[in-house]
Amino acid sequence: MPMALQAATLLPSTFFIPREGKAMAATLKDSTLFGVSLFDHSKSDSRFSSLKIKGERKLWNGVVRAKTMVADPGVTSGQVSGKKTLRKGTVVITGASSGLGLTTAKALAETGKWHVVMACRNFLKAERAAKSVGMRREDFSIMHLDLASLDSVRQFAENFRRSGRPLDVLVCNAAVYLPTAKEPTFTAEGFELSVGTNHLGHFLLSRLLFDHLKQSDYPSKRLIIVGSITGNTNTLAGNVPPKANLGDLRGLAGGLNGLNSSAMIDGGAFDGAKAYKDSKVCNMLTMQEFHRRYHQDTGITFASLYPGCIATTGLFREHIPLFRALFPAFQKYVTKGYVSEEEAGKRLAQVVSDLSLTKSGVYWSWNKNSASFENQLSQEASDADKARKMWELSEKLVGLAA
Ligand SMILES: NC(=O)c1ccc[n+]([C@@H]2O[C@H](COP(=O)([O-])OP(=O)(O)OC[C@H]3O[C@@H](n4cnc5c(N)ncnc54)[C@H](OP(=O)(O)O)[C@@H]3O)[C@@H](O)[C@H]2O)c1
Repeated sequence: MPMALQAATLLPSTFFIPREGKAMAATLKDSTLFGVSLFDHSKSDSRFSSLKIKGERKLWNGVVRAKTMVADPGVTSGQVSGKKTLRKGTVVITGASSGLGLTTAKALAETGKWHVVMACRNFLKAERAAKSVGMRREDFSIMHLDLASLDSVRQFAENFRRSGRPLDVLVCNAAVYLPTAKEPTFTAEGFELSVGTNHLGHFLLSRLLFDHLKQSDYPSKRLIIVGSITGNTNTLAGNVPPKANLGDLRGLAGGLNGLNSSAMIDGGAFDGAKAYKDSKVCNMLTMQEFHRRYHQDTGITFASLYPGCIATTGLFREHIPLFRALFPAFQKYVTKGYVSEEEAGKRLAQVVSDLSLTKSGVYWSWNKNSASFENQLSQEASDADKARKMWELSEKLVGLAA
């Protein structure tokens, strides 16, 4: 039923009232996320060969950690040039309370070079998760964000600005996947939940925080939107039905509300697995549209990635128990596309901070030796015309259109 799901009540800034998961009828129709790419694997180019640290300065919050970084003069990218202040970076990670977001937070925090803002809808869960992986209290903070409510997104952006922290890297990672749903559920504003959360929530968040990101003096500012192989129909996994397809975007234009328009972007019948894949196409198109519009003027690196099939995460929580039981072994021994949560976290952490991954507009993947390479997106996921239309329609839906 439309409007069945409402966003959790917001308490000032950081508290959350958890909502209950619901039992859902199950089918085995979608056995996606095989994690197999048909592309040849090749190692990405390395752009930075040397980095020297010297000097020390006091930080905005009083912490003395900052250093002066001298980049290799041969570096061509606009992100690192001349002398820059290397203070502790601030990275915001959405959905850092489990899975990929959590292991990325951990990987960055334990370097001692990053303060991680865990942008999560469940404050207590995030707190426990951070503790469970041994993150030190001074290396992270938690701020409330429910991407299924645009009010919450606006509130988060406002709270973050007020916190006085710089924003050096934003990672749009959170997602929901509802492969067994028979009927659509909806965000607080009435958008189909998968696209509303994974795409529209992140679209508004990244747009609202963009000026903040631009103002950062960090040597390499980045906006990363996690993609997926399942949205790319140029892969084996992307060809498992139902395939991603945004069509002519008529459902998005109609508001995805299941009332006077379809809940699906292409205007078709509701399919929870497809809605997730479509949302991932939007994520990858958004990253590229950001790159086209803003990379040259801002020097910000825009990137997406497929970290591998992390078959054990909570992403599959709505799938039937049999699928959840068999999927990790299937990925490990049959497709060999499996990666552990820890390895996937290291991969995303590389995209956040590695000096060899500053190229903008790239969709990163990793080969079986865990070497990163620039992967190719499907025709639809790299369609510039569609990206522009999707951007403009999304602006209208989240209230950013002039
Ligand atoms: N697992 C894979 O094989 C795989 C493969 C390719 C790409 N990915 C991508 O990796 C990313 C992370 O997924 P995962 O596998 O780590 O799944 P996960 O463990 O389920 O993590 C998803 C995170 O998103 C959060 N989230 C969900 N709805 C939210 C909302 N309305 N507001 C704020 N946060 C919300 C969850 O919060 P709660 O903890 O409160 O539920 C959780 O922290 C996703 O973008 C996914 O598409 C995953």
